[in-house]
Amino acid sequence: MADVKRVALLPGDGIGPEVAAVAVRMLEALVPGRIEFEEHLFGGASIDAHGTAMTDETLAACRASDAVLLAAVGGPRWDTTDPHAPRPEQGLLGMRKGLGLYANLRPVRAIGALLDASPLRPERIRGTDLLVVRELTGGIYFGEKTRTADAASDLCVYTVAEIERIARIAFAAARRKVSNVDKANVLETSRLWREVVLRVHAEEFPEVRLEHVLVDNAAMQLVSNPSDFDVILTENMFGDILSDEAAMITGSIGMLPSASLGGAGGPGMFEPVHGSAPDIAGRGIANPLAMVLSSALMLRHGFGWETEAAALESAVDGALAAGLRTRDLGGAATTDEAAQAVISHL
Ligand code: IPM
Ligand code: MG
Repeated sequence: MADVKRVALLPGDGIGPEVAAVAVRMLEALVPGRIEFEEHLFGGASIDAHGTAMTDETLAACRASDAVLLAAVGGPRWDTTDPHAPRPEQGLLGMRKGLGLYANLRPVRAIGALLDASPLRPERIRGTDLLVVRELTGGIYFGEKTRTADAASDLCVYTVAEIERIARIAFAAARRKVSNVDKANVLETSRLWREVVLRVHAEEFPEVRLEHVLVDNAAMQLVSNPSDFDVILTENMFGDILSDEAAMITGSIGMLPSASLGGAGGPGMFEPVHGSAPDIAGRGIANPLAMVLSSALMLRHGFGWETEAAALESAVDGALAAGLRTRDLGGAATTDEAAQAVISHL
């Protein structure tokens, strides 16, 4: 077979292995024989085995793969405020940086069948179909950190080149408009960010509508008038916070997939927005749909298999329309029942 893709599978911690297994099962049903999986310990599981959240071997294996499929990392077992102790999240951040995955795409859609599962009123969220384009390898996440006995600091740095490349991704993805979200009334990085976004817009994408929204206001608009958004372009930490908020439009954070893409033809990484949910881990009740939808993003953005990606997404829609509800969506379906429901709609 000429076109067999090699996927580095990182089940990680908590519910990670449970939902990762569903994704593998789904992909083997959908594209039998066309994907080879190679599994690696990651996050807390890697800390337990190797003392670090991501080994050099795991990073190298991921770099050599066609795509990285990650479930979730972290858990109370590895929670610490000691700056010298390893944390599961270091694996995730190290992988993003190591693979140069600067563009994080988080699509948020109000699914018809789930309008009632959202804590927001159906008439507010109906029709929402937005994309958060989050810068993923810069800003406060990766700036210098200091800690003394009585103070700590996290530096937020952005370069022009970092802003330009993420702005291009956002403009290219826009159908109606780009809402640039920053805090230009306070932060110097935001003022540079806005200037660069304005220039990239004027020089390369003048036909796309562009608006600027301060992040506090964007947080409010996301719950009061979410369907007005198309593409939200924002920096690393604002994107982290706003995408969790936006998840509630879909009814549950257990529904939200993401794609992290880099440059230079290297592999992308595909992962649910949700975490490892240690409170329900091992009970077989986690919602696997964000993981399944992340696999669909892998097929689309990672391999260019649009037909297969769309088939997987419509199987998820079909299962939901037929009444599938895991516990996070107010139902009682188990992880396995959710998997079966999606497979039956493939
Ligand atoms: C996310 C997560 C991560 C982030 C954590 C686990 C480091 O919240 O992908 O949104 O903050 O980026
Ligand atoms: Mg987050």
